[in-house]
Amino acid sequence: MPSSQTSAMQTIRVDYELPDFSRTGAANSVQHAWARVPQEPTQAERSALMERIAGQLKQKNAVLVAHYYVHPDLQDLAERTGGLVSDSLEMARFGRDHAAQTLVVAGVRFMGETAKILSPHKTIIVPELEATCSLDLGCPTDAFSAFCDQHPDRTVVVYANTSAAVKARADWMVTSGCALDVVNHLKDQGKKILWAPDRHLGAYIQRETGADMLMWNGTCIVHDEFKAFELEALKAEHPGAKILAHPESPSAILALADAIGSTSGILKAARDMAATTFIVATDNGLMHKLRTLNPGKTFIEAPTAGNSATCKSCAHCPWMAMNSLQGLAAVLESGGNTIEVDAALVERARLPIDRMLAFTAQNARAAQAGSGIVPNIGAA
Ligand code: 13P
Ligand code: SF4
Repeated sequence: MPSSQTSAMQTIRVDYELPDFSRTGAANSVQHAWARVPQEPTQAERSALMERIAGQLKQKNAVLVAHYYVHPDLQDLAERTGGLVSDSLEMARFGRDHAAQTLVVAGVRFMGETAKILSPHKTIIVPELEATCSLDLGCPTDAFSAFCDQHPDRTVVVYANTSAAVKARADWMVTSGCALDVVNHLKDQGKKILWAPDRHLGAYIQRETGADMLMWNGTCIVHDEFKAFELEALKAEHPGAKILAHPESPSAILALADAIGSTSGILKAARDMAATTFIVATDNGLMHKLRTLNPGKTFIEAPTAGNSATCKSCAHCPWMAMNSLQGLAAVLESGGNTIEVDAALVERARLPIDRMLAFTAQNARAAQAGSGIVPNIGAA
């Protein structure tokens, strides 16, 4: 069980063991994920696969919703077929509001589950049922429930990157696109917060808001690998470059950043900042959109552990990488890989998600700016 201690800032750090992702052969191991990533198709194969998928989407009256971290082919296909590429907040909104009865969610499992919870009567298909997330894996329901039981005085705020069962224990769900606003709102109401599972995102929000937050100790295995020492060296080579970072990155990385934001936030910063060179600390799947939207600008990947010879993650999520044209074509043709969530769980897990969606909609209206979708970028 966890050990805990109180710091001067009333933040309690709770240490949990992360599951062992390195165990070769385990269904959730990174090796298993990489082993399931197919070879890049040839140009002719790529075109044929895209045609097959587009035909299936039409036939099934389905829409493809993709995250910015999946393969560029899937991102392009989603847009070409009337679907969406976006961050996890906008994926949730779009899936809920779209008229299609079948949603095809290219991303990781929690994104498919969120779509199902918001639209229980729709069919949710994912290219890979085993595409998971280290944050989700590192926050098992029983331990998390016990943690909540120990702190009944706290408002439970969970990141979207969690299972449906963990969400069912929460008062609020947030994504990185709205976490700061939600926690500020709760702090203004005098609430003490129990936060899970990303400790870097939680620490960032705690520093920015000064809220009283009790943290779960999870990390994203991709963002956790960025190295400040190497980043400073890279910045010295490109003194005019601005650093853009996702808040799942460690605090030493965020301290060097010129802009911190969700995937959509990073895209907006790259569009709006005057600089022409950027070093980007997030999954390198975002490079596709960064480069296509900003053809005159240069984007460099922030360094992960070691140099290229020893690079452990190379800043790409193994589970996002499992999404492929080949896998999606096969699944659509065979009719498999639907996401099912227990009806009772749907009912309970929907509350924190609805709360977030209502809050962000109201906030956008109140600000009279940035509401809805920013063309080609996503939610404001
Ligand atoms: P965004 O909500 O910023 O798209 O992030 C989702 C995610 O999984 C980041 O690793
Ligand atoms: Fe999870 Fe990190 Fe992959 Fe996002 S990039 S899905 S947080 S493991």
